[in-house]
Amino acid sequence: MNNAKKTALIAGATGVVGRSILQHLSDLDDWEVIAISRRRPDIAGNYQHIEIDLLDKDDCRDKLGNLLNVSHIFYAAYVERANLREMIEPNLRMLVNLIDVIEPVATGLRHINLIQGTKWYGNHLGPFKTPAKESDPLHMPPNFYYDQQEFIVNRQKGKNWTWSSGRPHGVSGFAIGNPMNLVMIVAVYATISKVLGLPLRHPGSRANAQALYQVTDSSLLARACTWMATEEKCANEPFNITNGDIFRWENMWPILADYFNMKTAQPQKINLTQMMADKGTLWEQLTKKHGLQKIPYEKLVRWEYGDFVFTPEFDIISSMTKARQFGFIEVMDSEEMFLRQFDELRARKIIP
Ligand SMILES: NC(=O)c1ccc[n+]([C@@H]2O[C@H](COP(=O)([O-])OP(=O)(O)OC[C@H]3O[C@@H](n4cnc5c(N)ncnc54)[C@H](OP(=O)(O)O)[C@@H]3O)[C@@H](O)[C@H]2O)c1
Repeated sequence: MNNAKKTALIAGATGVVGRSILQHLSDLDDWEVIAISRRRPDIAGNYQHIEIDLLDKDDCRDKLGNLLNVSHIFYAAYVERANLREMIEPNLRMLVNLIDVIEPVATGLRHINLIQGTKWYGNHLGPFKTPAKESDPLHMPPNFYYDQQEFIVNRQKGKNWTWSSGRPHGVSGFAIGNPMNLVMIVAVYATISKVLGLPLRHPGSRANAQALYQVTDSSLLARACTWMATEEKCANEPFNITNGDIFRWENMWPILADYFNMKTAQPQKINLTQMMADKGTLWEQLTKKHGLQKIPYEKLVRWEYGDFVFTPEFDIISSMTKARQFGFIEVMDSEEMFLRQFDELRARKIIP
């Protein structure tokens, strides 16, 4: 690894993924860090923030055209749209706008790291081959990850810089107002169940509770992305990145219930989007009673993401073999991860 000072540009620095990369790199002495997003990150630290709309080409040119020293780009920006086809245009446009401005001026550019996910393998479509390997064939498009990767692969040809991509699943970490953050879904669901005097029930079917599942701690992901962006062997390679263990929700709930001092009961499939929609007033009362941070209920969690997690009745497993063979050997116990992150949510007055 080269220890010369590096300059990271983190796109999507307020997201559940980007925020962790920002936290990680801004704590390291050998990195200068520039964070970009529309909102200002809530992290104190040694970095520069540029408020920017990546969908706006002119905004990118005006605000990023002088970033001559960028050596590494970590791309974790993301927008959701109503369907898979509509996801492509804005997600590709943000990446292209960024690279079109930075790549010609940052003559010392060494690496572009993309964040992808298990959707690369089509877990959102139905059962897929498990454990999924990076070399598995693509699914029938559309999939905006494919368009982003194709753009980067073509752009890289003949250049001095290289790329890598990380493919996490069920990222959990501290971030507020983000659509996909599993720990927030679980913590808020458990808190509301408890206040209503209910046991902590798995909100999916029995088959979903019994399927094998995996998650990725956002700080582990940040370390993995830093590793693949700076390790020469990882040049132009994708890597699955999960905690390295797998679990069944039916075994996880008793551990989570214990943390919240609750009982469990058998799974009962509910539509979280519908059933949790009317719990805003309850959350407001909890906020007042326990002096929690005032976060609008609609921003706290996106229940649709909970339904996405608790609906599939098949295993979701990515192989971590390639990352390990290339040298990323960190593992994390997912049970411990949830409990540690609940502690953080309590300490930050997000949950009582
Ligand atoms: N979260 C997960 O569980 C998970 C799992 C697997 C894969 N992934 C992948 O990881 C990547 C990042 O996801 P995430 O969950 O971290 O997303 P996220 O929490 O929604 O964050 C998205 C980031 O993009 C920024 N952004 C959105 N529109 C922008 C715009 N017009 N201009 C500038 N910045 C913009 C947002 O910042 P502002 O709103 O402040 O502008 C935010 O920082 C995605 O490709 C996602 O598919 C996520």
